[in-house]
Amino acid sequence: MKTRIILILLGVIILQLIKPRIAKNTCDRVTEHGYLCENHTVTTKDGYLLTMFRIPHSPLRESQENEILPRPAVLLMHGTECSSDMWVLNGPNDGLPFLLANAGYDVWLANIRGNLYSRQHQTLSPSSREFMNFSWDEIGRYDIPAKIDYILSRTNQKKLHYIGFSMGTRIFMITMSTKPKYAEKIKTAQMLGPGVFLCHIRSRLPTLLAPIFGRPGVLSSIFGAMQGNALSDLMRSVLPGICRHNSNTCANYLQSMVGRDSPYVNQTLLADFFSTYPAGTSPRLTLHFLQLVNSCQFRSFDFGPNENKQKYGQLEPPAYDLKRIKLQMPIEMYFSDNDYLATIEDIRHLYKIMGNQLSLHRLNFEKYNHWDFILAKNVKTSINDCVVDKMQQYEGRSFNGSLCNNFRNKACLLSRLVECLFIDFTATAATTADK
Ligand SMILES: *[C@@H]1O[C@H](CO)[C@@H](O)[C@H](O)[C@H]1NC(C)=O
Ligand SMILES: *[C@@H]1O[C@H](CO)[C@@H](O)[C@H](O)[C@H]1NC(C)=O
Ligand SMILES: *[C@@H]1O[C@H](CO)[C@@H](O)[C@H](O)[C@H]1NC(C)=O
Ligand SMILES: *[C@@H]1O[C@H](CO)[C@@H](O)[C@H](O)[C@H]1NC(C)=O
Repeated sequence: MKTRIILILLGVIILQLIKPRIAKNTCDRVTEHGYLCENHTVTTKDGYLLTMFRIPHSPLRESQENEILPRPAVLLMHGTECSSDMWVLNGPNDGLPFLLANAGYDVWLANIRGNLYSRQHQTLSPSSREFMNFSWDEIGRYDIPAKIDYILSRTNQKKLHYIGFSMGTRIFMITMSTKPKYAEKIKTAQMLGPGVFLCHIRSRLPTLLAPIFGRPGVLSSIFGAMQGNALSDLMRSVLPGICRHNSNTCANYLQSMVGRDSPYVNQTLLADFFSTYPAGTSPRLTLHFLQLVNSCQFRSFDFGPNENKQKYGQLEPPAYDLKRIKLQMPIEMYFSDNDYLATIEDIRHLYKIMGNQLSLHRLNFEKYNHWDFILAKNVKTSINDCVVDKMQQYEGRSFNGSLCNNFRNKACLLSRLVECLFIDFTATAATTADK
């Protein structure tokens, strides 16, 4: 008994000693490649202070800087438990922010409330429960609009490009469905690994936890009351060491969560990746995630019937109205078969609701997984070049037009391969039978 208490006390002390230590922030990672970088603080309507990093322009364009071209602004939004670091890990030859700066864009890297760069508030202490009391609802309603407005006012532009990875897609949909006026501020929306509905995710841990914590109850209340960031801070201080010594173990661990057997992952950068991931978030956000997995719906946070009634005026949380989203350009969705978190089934469901508001691009690489959209060795040629080219086209600049060739033909966009052949087969059979 005594030893157990001592062990627990020791654990608590160790957790207290491991303060979130940021060895290198996003700007450090950018400037070490000779690019300019600024950090900006954005205040949300509900008082959160969020950090955005900005790459105002590329050193490669120095000679062209007398061209008085305005640099179009682009906002990059990271995934769950991530930070702006994720975009710049693979350096200036492959990383999307660098390629965008080289192509003449004003690049803004966002951080949502609660992650390691956005733990400040006008009145609340970051370690208080009130501070960590948010889900995707608040991020979609407050964080994204505040960032968009800040960028537009700083750059004197009317619209910007939006690029989202994973959760970056989900919270964009929340913003656009709850504040449809923001559609006017978006030029193009480029979505990588776009999980909106989470019904068919294949990651082991969340599918295991969803039936237990993905509904209001005693267990989820206990979970929601936890100090969320202690564990992620601990993981960030332990995992890099493991990855440096055994990058295979590290790659396997990552792939078990996001898609097994991918040959594309760049193992060299995994140690660095795990020094900044997981970047921390609120337990309530994690519960929101598990709720969407469990309910198969895309809807607001579920507080339980009584509180729902008070908050929403109904017993069940309201679904986000995706039909309200009307952008000028269709939302570009880049997805793959081996993505455990943005599955073909869920994207098909989204397409049934949003139809031509989406433009679908299903990658030809079968083993490409969720994180490959950011960390793959071939991320430049498979995705990033295509994304930049589409934006160039929108801007009326010279563009290549053949950099988006890694995607399936239309007929096979949304079916699994077998079904896909089957559809082709039945279509042929039907036309033959007609004759
Ligand atoms: C932003 O820049 C200031 C001044 O250079 C620095 O003190 C601060 O730590 C930076 N903030 C972040 C989040 O990196
Ligand atoms: C893998 O990542 C490292 C570290 O960023 C980078 O130097 C290297 O070029 C990458 N390898 C490939 C094949 O992209
Ligand atoms: C968290 O927010 C909910 C709803 O916004 C509220 O009912 C609850 O009292 C809050 N909890 C804390 C600890 O701030
Ligand atoms: C388009 O890009 C490809 C691959 O980088 C290149 O080989 C080709 O020359 C480019 N075409 C044009 C018209 O720029």
